[in-house]
Amino acid sequence: MPKPARYIQLNQLRSASLSRPLDPANENPALAHSLYQKCSSVLSLAADDQNIYSGSQADDILVWDKATFTLKSTLQGHTGSVLALQYAPDRKWLFSASGDSSVRVWSTTTLTPLFRISPHLDSDSGDIFSLAWSPSLSTIYFGCQNTSLQWYAFSEDKGSIPCPPRQDPPFDTFCNNSGTATPRRAHKFFDSYPQYTRRAADLNARNSYRSSPSPPESSSPPTDGCLSPALSASMTAPAALDTPAKNMVWSAHYGYIYCMALSPSTYEGSDDKPASAKDEIRLVTGSGDSSVKLWSLPAGVPTLEHTFDCGSGAVLALTVRANTVYAGCQDGYVKVLDLETRTCVRTILVQEGVDVLSMSMLDSDLYTCSANGQIQRWSSSFDLSASWDGHSGIILSSLIVLSETPKDNADGASKPRAVLITGGNDDYIKLWDVEPPTARISDQTELDQVQQDPHNDTLLYALSKFISIPSISGHPRYKEDCRQAAIWLRKCLSQLGAESSLISTGEDNNPLVLATFHGAQTQTKIPRILFYGHYDVIDAHKSGWSSDPFQLLPLNGYLYGRGVTDNKGPIMAVACAAASLLRKRALDVDLVMLVEGEEESGSRGFSETVKKYKDQIGEIDAILVSNSTWISETTPCITYGLRGVIHCEVEISSSGSDLHSGVDGGDTMEPMMDMVKLLGSLTDSKKKVAIPGFYDAVRPLTSDERQLYTVLSGVTQTPASSLSAKWREPALTVHNVEVSGPKNSTVIPATIKARVSLRVVPDQDLDTIATNLQDYLKSEFETFRSPNSLHMSIKHIADWWLGKLDDPWFLALENAIRDEWGVEPLRIREGGSIPGIPYLEKEFSCHALHLPLGQSTDQAHLPNERISLANLQRGQAVLERFFTKVARGIVSEV
Ligand code: BES
Ligand code: MN
Repeated sequence: MPKPARYIQLNQLRSASLSRPLDPANENPALAHSLYQKCSSVLSLAADDQNIYSGSQADDILVWDKATFTLKSTLQGHTGSVLALQYAPDRKWLFSASGDSSVRVWSTTTLTPLFRISPHLDSDSGDIFSLAWSPSLSTIYFGCQNTSLQWYAFSEDKGSIPCPPRQDPPFDTFCNNSGTATPRRAHKFFDSYPQYTRRAADLNARNSYRSSPSPPESSSPPTDGCLSPALSASMTAPAALDTPAKNMVWSAHYGYIYCMALSPSTYEGSDDKPASAKDEIRLVTGSGDSSVKLWSLPAGVPTLEHTFDCGSGAVLALTVRANTVYAGCQDGYVKVLDLETRTCVRTILVQEGVDVLSMSMLDSDLYTCSANGQIQRWSSSFDLSASWDGHSGIILSSLIVLSETPKDNADGASKPRAVLITGGNDDYIKLWDVEPPTARISDQTELDQVQQDPHNDTLLYALSKFISIPSISGHPRYKEDCRQAAIWLRKCLSQLGAESSLISTGEDNNPLVLATFHGAQTQTKIPRILFYGHYDVIDAHKSGWSSDPFQLLPLNGYLYGRGVTDNKGPIMAVACAAASLLRKRALDVDLVMLVEGEEESGSRGFSETVKKYKDQIGEIDAILVSNSTWISETTPCITYGLRGVIHCEVEISSSGSDLHSGVDGGDTMEPMMDMVKLLGSLTDSKKKVAIPGFYDAVRPLTSDERQLYTVLSGVTQTPASSLSAKWREPALTVHNVEVSGPKNSTVIPATIKARVSLRVVPDQDLDTIATNLQDYLKSEFETFRSPNSLHMSIKHIADWWLGKLDDPWFLALENAIRDEWGVEPLRIREGGSIPGIPYLEKEFSCHALHLPLGQSTDQAHLPNERISLANLQRGQAVLERFFTKVARGIVSEV
């Protein structure tokens, strides 16, 4: 086999991200302008046609002229950091939420305060982190530190005050000179919250630039250009509005409500259609409790519809595009949630361990802003299309503003433009020239592809990373690699949309990966399928291989590498099938993936662990496995039977030590001689196993089977008797014989160990066969009257498995194969063993199905292991069809 150029750079392989690395041809957006807000971090941003508004940590809102990039005015009044801003274009109002427990409303035409909204139970609401204005409901929603969700509804009569204004409390000595501020009172519970140590969102919360309450002099800022009094708007007292008790969901979350958004999105840059009167408007809230909640808004009142558990730390930022919610989380993950099916369709790994603090969308492009100052752009297919250093500190806020002046192309055509505005704790506001994805990707058909799977190779890309980890369970040297493979797989499956975790199977064993792809939630119970696979592989000695076994090599339609067929390739095909359906919002079954790391070593710790976590796995309707091959290269198959296996170690040793054959040979009964005779006694000259009663329980061949074997014999060009011998008759193998000592040809070894295995078939009983084997060896050995001693131990066992050919699940899988390939699949059995299958059938009281994806020439366990790329990809398609079929109702389909 020739050695082509390396396919994927090694340095790309180990990163856990499934997103394609940046194409060097992609240009990062250019910096159009910077605004320096000398005295304070930029916590929040909003904009209208004329101005950019920045909420500062120093309690003020700075108003910047969009055309001249100069500071126009300062809106004063808040006595705490300005944590959120929202522009309401329909009213020309600016809403601001603050650490002083108030929401303020400003006129953007006069730049004067209009209202001060007090949350219900004023002092107890804590900081107000998040805002969302619904023009059609004329309601401002706000999320509080005390976990309450509150709202204030304005009447349809624009600008009118719905309830009698309350007088602001009298100014006290701590108020600033605008005369409108109300100092924040201490909260009996939340104010004991420790100082910020790590989480940027908490940094904003209680860390006012001015110490609170504000000393009077701090309200007369120095004349260094920062918050210049000359620029401050002259403030009139805003009308005070109280949030009525009924406008509050108490304990809306179990943590601070850091962020919220409306669906359809109301933000500039969104391609969502504005909500019309008949459209359902929904609110999503994200919290420190790591959940996102979906609220319907009948008559504007939030009613909890669903809770998404993001499972990866606080939800710090939210953005919405139609039915899709992007939740930016602690530690660098963005969960992509579908509001219709109520599923997590994908997880984007932005940067591990770096909080995602703000996000903005321009059509289908997602911009993520992180705690390390970096900005990333993600395509609709979750690939990274730009990445750059935006700020020298933490990025706390971002916003998309559409530009009225389209950029002229070289060819004279104009391109739509937009500006991404970001604000950080480096006191800068930065304006980046960005283009909507349609402008960046000129060819529309290319765009369509992007929205599918741009490279059509998530499967291939993920597999190349998976293969690069030598997860060999048979050798302690690779224990850490096995753990790394499990960790990688957990992250991979979670990025593909599953809820995934690692489960220990005992200190000496490799962990299990448990991942659930949740199907769309419906009133009725949806089928739950348990996929079983194994991420461990057999050792690969480089000598027999034509390429590096741990670097995926695509060549002439095949993928080469250790584990491609057994079992990493099929695992990825199953995961990609679920991910693809999720992306199409068409996954209507729950797929639980249980992937172990000990199969090649006899599934150590598997059954005990599954038993222990049975509740977490939940009820299962069918088991699915894909860990064997077709019998030929061309015709798809469905496997309905496997043999079982009993592995026995036989040891014969003398009472002394190794001897010199010249010195002692002839005067000693050599253990090796005993071993040779003993192993020789196991079979006769016709391969028949000599253990008494060994064949008694073997199920006789039926006429149907005989007919089947005749057909298969034609396909495979092998005699029917050979197929029968491999699939439905038991067999004995002597695998190896090991000797003590230096192994040179002058030594009589004192100890000999041999590994013997028996493949067992229906209806042989494992325990009976294991006992009979040992009894037989013992009795044979006794006839030798040898001074040496014999020890035997059963290393591992696996039961045989026979599927149910008239089971509706089996027929549905068979139909899916037929539909995809357009030919009748062959029903086959296999001679190998998978301990997990018969065990899982018993444990979950349901049938197993086995879809082979490999071909007979795959070389599992041997050098140059491979799998056909087309088989893998069409295998994924078969699986998608199967999941779709069984979701529609298992009985009606068949
Ligand atoms: N995938 C194989 C089992 C297999 C091989 C099924 C060929 C069908 C055809 C599995 O990974 C394997 O190697 N199993 C071992 C089991 C043992 C280690 C308990 C086997 O069959 O020897
Ligand atoms: Mn194997």
